[in-house]
Amino acid sequence: MASVRKYSAKGDTVNSLIRHTLLATAAVFAVLTVSPAMADDEFMFEGRKKCYNCHKAQGKSWAKTKHGKAMESLKPGKAKKAKLKAKLDPEKDYTEDKDCVGCHVDGFEQEGGYLIDDPDKWLTGVGCESCHGAGSGYRKLHRKAGEKFEKSQKTTPRKKLLARGEEFEFIEKCNACHLNYEGSGWEGTKKPYTPFTPEVDEKYAFDFEKYVRNDKAMHQHFKLIGTFTGDPTPKFHEEFQKAAKPLPKDEE
Ligand code: HEC
Ligand code: HEC
Ligand code: HEC
Ligand code: HEC
Repeated sequence: MASVRKYSAKGDTVNSLIRHTLLATAAVFAVLTVSPAMADDEFMFEGRKKCYNCHKAQGKSWAKTKHGKAMESLKPGKAKKAKLKAKLDPEKDYTEDKDCVGCHVDGFEQEGGYLIDDPDKWLTGVGCESCHGAGSGYRKLHRKAGEKFEKSQKTTPRKKLLARGEEFEFIEKCNACHLNYEGSGWEGTKKPYTPFTPEVDEKYAFDFEKYVRNDKAMHQHFKLIGTFTGDPTPKFHEEFQKAAKPLPKDEE
């Protein structure tokens, strides 16, 4: 998808900046923190099983959302009315159709991502990595930073997560699926397009500010203890954290 390349390019700049700074300060440090695989910005999809290990609450909540059930909609007999309206065949099985699957799974045909010939249940549906970014670079830092915070209350800047492929703006990720149709006004459009456009029904008009607060599709938010700090933080971060639930007792 075009947007992915855009993201790689952005990551590249950040990575090379960091690489240069590190090289300038201490070569040894650079070797320790930025391995060649990471410097190369091609972060891999790993599947949400990894995320579930540490974020069960978000995982459980996500599974009940529309994104969690996105593959279901491609099955015959599901979402019949919507399919008819979009001139699709409600009795057809679209679960292996390459014109459909790409936006209903994680990392379609990207490194480590979903493949029609080798479907992985941990990549099925619009999962964690579709929004938060391919996880191979940043999830290890989550563990390390979590351990550090627990031991010494020392926080880690979010900037480090950004350099390892974690997403904080979200909007371009959303756009790549929600605004991928001709005339949407989004620059990255590329076939196959979504059949569900405002022309089919007004309700498919994507409005980020509204959609990101829609709890039928977005997982519930749980209180963070503050391991990561500083920019980039989305402007709704405070709002979501203020209304967030405490983590269930057994998951603290
Ligand atoms: C990989 C593609 C993909 C990405 C990325 C994505 N979505 Fe979705 N989204 C979908 C699909 C597919 C559905 C429909 C799921 C279904 O009903 O089968 C959907 C449904 C939704 C809905 C439900 C709409 C309704 O009518 O009830 C909302 C809200 C939503 N997405 C918001 C977002 C936001 C906000 C983002 C970015 C933070 C985002 N999505 C990122 C593919 C994506
Ligand atoms: C470019 C990304 C993209 C492609 C390709 C795509 N979809 Fe989706 N699909 C979406 C998004 C985004 C939504 C959610 C739209 C919304 O609710 O605002 C969605 C929603 C749906 C829904 C639920 C609609 C509803 O109102 O309940 C069905 C069913 C569906 N898609 C089937 C398909 C089928 C079948 C194909 C292939 C012919 C396909 N999609 C191809 C992005 C895509
Ligand atoms: C459709 C996009 C989307 C998907 C899919 C998604 N998230 Fe999120 N997630 C968000 C947004 C938006 C936030 C709010 C970010 C903020 O407040 O800074 C968030 C916040 C979080 C947080 C911070 C604490 C909280 O609850 O707000 C965690 C942890 C998290 N997500 C984990 C996950 C995991 C694990 C999955 C997969 C099971 C997942 N997310 C799937 C969009 C998504
Ligand atoms: C080994 C455990 C572990 C794994 C695996 C893990 N995380 Fe985390 N994650 C953490 C910890 C610890 C925090 C900090 C939580 C806090 O401050 O309350 C965190 C924080 C987050 C946040 C909030 C970051 C912020 O802005 O403060 C998001 C979003 C998130 N994780 C998503 C994910 C996703 C998506 C995956 C899978 C690709 C993942 N995590 C894998 C341990 C993990």
